[in-house]
Amino acid sequence: MTDEFQAHLAKAADRVETVLEDILSAEVREGETERPERLLAAMRYAALGGGKRLRPILVMETAALFGRADHGVALTAAALEMIHCYSLVHDDLPAMDDDDLRRGLPTVHKAFDEATAILAGDALLTLAFDVITDDEVHPDPAVRLRLNRDLARAAGIGGMAGGQMFDLESEGRDRTETEIRTLQAMKTGALLRYACRAGAILSNASEDDIDRMTRFGDIIGLAFQLADDLLDVEASPEVTGKATGKDAAAGKATLVGLFGVEKTRKELNALLGQAEELLAPFGEKARMLSEIADYVARRDR
Ligand code: IPE
Ligand code: IPE
Ligand code: MG
Ligand code: MG
Ligand code: MG
Repeated sequence: MTDEFQAHLAKAADRVETVLEDILSAEVREGETERPERLLAAMRYAALGGGKRLRPILVMETAALFGRADHGVALTAAALEMIHCYSLVHDDLPAMDDDDLRRGLPTVHKAFDEATAILAGDALLTLAFDVITDDEVHPDPAVRLRLNRDLARAAGIGGMAGGQMFDLESEGRDRTETEIRTLQAMKTGALLRYACRAGAILSNASEDDIDRMTRFGDIIGLAFQLADDLLDVEASPEVTGKATGKDAAAGKATLVGLFGVEKTRKELNALLGQAEELLAPFGEKARMLSEIADYVARRDR
């Protein structure tokens, strides 16, 4: 990773942090009654001060590719990150992956309690849908509606939540390559796909370009989960900030489990090649997105 790229990522992550800090303030929004202190503290714990912020960064970089970089983009990015953070809180619960460590700290149900963690997830999810309907997101209500509906579909039964169901149902069972690809495209791919798609929709890109960026997001999504599964096998909790070596122990259905490490690395390289092809028509303008693709595949945390 070059210093310039690292600085760019850090700056984008800071921007997301500032917007999230504002959204998760103690101040009630019009129509809200009160924000319970303990619930807000758990939501802030889950969403602030950690994480690579990859999904919001992809929203912002894709929007920048088509010429938009204002506050509405950052709001969309923050809404998506809130859904991601909620998914992690619930993913770590005893009834799901039962993890104690996340982003180098105790998981939300450990730092608070299970009921609070469930509610913090619920409230992050619903607040995200409040944020994405903000007038500043896009002047055209039809575009806001499209962003909203696509987000619901990425997060819900046919997207992330559905993928989490397949993931749990697959524990200890044989799954075919196709089944694992579908599971991963849903549990992880759907939000990353949305990140790239939303950036293009937000900036009034052509339908062809929205479709191209959606396909780019699909590839990033698959590459991201392959890298996550490799880290589970090869990395240490000190570096990743979460427990490792758990997928095989829990009998998770992963491509690393099916293919082994070497073949998974080859697959990752092939995906990077496909990502480059999709970005090629944009030339130098897409350099940052291309570096992000590279980072996703080769990251160490
Ligand atoms: C972890 O996501 C969960 C998966 C979808 C594999 P990230 O690796 O993006 O987690 P943070 O946000 O950086 O902590
Ligand atoms: C989690 O996948 C995907 C979602 C949270 C939707 P994992 O269970 O592999 O993520 P980690 O490894 O706990 O971060
Ligand atoms: Mg999981
Ligand atoms: Mg997990
Ligand atoms: Mg994992």
